[in-house]
Amino acid sequence: MNTRKRIGILTSGGDCPGLNAVIRAVVKCANRRGWDVFGIPYGTDGFISVTEGHYKPDDLRLQEHGYNIPGILQGLDVLQFLSGSILGSLSKGNPQQPEVAAKILEGYQRLGLDALVAIGGDGSLDIIYELAKQGGWNIIGIPKTIDNDVPFTEQSVGFGTAVETVTNALYDLTFTAASHDRVMVVQVMGRNAGHLALYSGIAGGADVILIPELVPQLTSTVVTQICEKVAEMRRAGRKFALVVVAEGVGGENGEKDRCIGDTLAQLIHDRSRTLCLTGDQIYCDLDQVETRASVLGHIQRSGIPTSFDRLLASAFGKKAVDLIAEGRFSRLVIWRAGQVQSEPLDQVLQVVRRCHEQGICPSPVERDHTMLQVAQSLGVYVGDLDSAAPPMLHETHSIRETMVHRS
Ligand code: F6P
Repeated sequence: MNTRKRIGILTSGGDCPGLNAVIRAVVKCANRRGWDVFGIPYGTDGFISVTEGHYKPDDLRLQEHGYNIPGILQGLDVLQFLSGSILGSLSKGNPQQPEVAAKILEGYQRLGLDALVAIGGDGSLDIIYELAKQGGWNIIGIPKTIDNDVPFTEQSVGFGTAVETVTNALYDLTFTAASHDRVMVVQVMGRNAGHLALYSGIAGGADVILIPELVPQLTSTVVTQICEKVAEMRRAGRKFALVVVAEGVGGENGEKDRCIGDTLAQLIHDRSRTLCLTGDQIYCDLDQVETRASVLGHIQRSGIPTSFDRLLASAFGKKAVDLIAEGRFSRLVIWRAGQVQSEPLDQVLQVVRRCHEQGICPSPVERDHTMLQVAQSLGVYVGDLDSAAPPMLHETHSIRETMVHRS
């Protein structure tokens, strides 16, 4: 029996630090078993390129000590230190269109793959899994995202490094904020989930942390309460403040606002003056408050992967290869309770799809999240909790209840 397997690997969706470390780990573990690994460029688009004759299988072969995707660094070991993806990634296109899907499936066939390792977020894994079912592929998913919103895994590759990046930015911003007694509003990524804002906000010493799960919109009450927090700090002698806002927090009417940091900075500025005009002593110097907004942007998707992200990437890569060796396919590799495990992709993606249909996040910051309690205990303002609806609670409890299929 020929046990020399041919494994494909691709990265899909927005990039993040640690993708290359996963690729390296998969190649090293697979090569040690005598298997061949083929890097698919630009997600599923790479299969189309194969079908259209732009690549022959040997062009895509990844090897521990050198590979030949033209124009890219030789040798794999350096990869675990580099962010981005050497394979390129794809976060657009519609691979489900029948003619596109047909080309993708043909490309897979031409490479003669025995299995595919797909590194992606919830959306891209969902799309690739559908293709896998159509093509009868043996697939293993590995979760990556700085938003940390893939359900069933406590941590996705890239999240830890992004927390580090934002935490460092908050450290840097503290000194300029303090020098000018300013309220520094920092807009952090996290389209639907506030994990990144919450973790980095605590680690970076934020005074206010706003996440979409608790602050779906910047209500008048929220803005007033932030100003009250600033006033309270100023009375106690702290003249500057750090406000972290996740990009998923809605504007005054709950609408998505790409410049939510600027919007919030302006609202705090205006409300501070209005409160001062009430003549109430506690607001007396709020008319002095200056605000500035910083949008951290895509720098959060880069940076040298932290040691933990490299460990996670290495452990996930090893697990993916082990699962292929055991013939246990259609599974998502996950991190839970300090261990690498796996869950059936069917189950994970069912939750993802249901949440997307309802317009909710598949893995939000829950109301009883330890770090939320930590933030509150430290006196961090996290929103108008008396009136904020708990939209995710029911869903996340049901996710928890289904998390029983350990591997
Ligand atoms: O999903 C991860 C994420 O980093 C979000 O937090 C952010 O909104 C989005 O990607 C930006 O993606 P892009 O600009 O690459 O489309």
